[in-house]
Amino acid sequence: MSDSDLRWRYRDEAPRAPEGRFSLGELIEGSGPIELDIGFGRGLSLFERAAAAPESRIIGIEVKTKLAYKVNERLQKHDLRNVAILCGDAREILKRAEPAGSLQRVALHFPDPWWKKRHDKRRVIGEALLTELARLLKPGGELFIQTDVEHRAEQYVAQLQETAGFTLASDSGYVEVNPFDARSNREKRAIEDGLPVWRILATRD
Ligand SMILES: C[S@@+](CC[C@H](N)C(=O)[O-])C[C@H]1O[C@@H](n2cnc3c(N)ncnc32)[C@H](O)[C@@H]1O
Repeated sequence: MSDSDLRWRYRDEAPRAPEGRFSLGELIEGSGPIELDIGFGRGLSLFERAAAAPESRIIGIEVKTKLAYKVNERLQKHDLRNVAILCGDAREILKRAEPAGSLQRVALHFPDPWWKKRHDKRRVIGEALLTELARLLKPGGELFIQTDVEHRAEQYVAQLQETAGFTLASDSGYVEVNPFDARSNREKRAIEDGLPVWRILATRD
């Protein structure tokens, strides 16, 4: 298959969210807690989280069609039925997601790899996303963000302090370990390379 055929295949066959408003709970059978992994990249965090929390229903959102397609293909090969993939911009998808107060946990592992000011609009963590997450998380629900870029971590802490409905898990905003027991590909590499990682945990009031 040519590169261009493959690109069409990724675009056409990557799993998408239903049209219009849709229910997060109906994406995966069962009644376990619903979790989100936004921008899962090559998907290690989905597989590790599915193993660590087999009772949870895990929804991964990824904007890149090739990654969404390939990770979905691997999930099917492993017959992992408690994980569902949605391809698209998390900020757009979550605006249409229902019901409020249905999410137990949300993870963003190493988001926003863009440095330049002109790329600010591409950053996934911002007012639009945090407002939707505050709506969708249940009281006591957890939001975990980790990054290897210190000034981004500082921005995330400041943004969470300004967003109504969230309380940081510590005075500084940071926690020592990933509380979700599931490493992402970037986290695994950072640990192997001995690089610092800033980890932020907040709970929904
Ligand atoms: C630096 S990578 C990190 C990947 C993975 N979480 C990890 O830690 O290895 C950031 C990922 O977020 C995805 N992403 C960026 N903006 C997004 C958005 N608005 N909605 C969904 N995914 C997004 C990118 O395509 C990319 O796969």
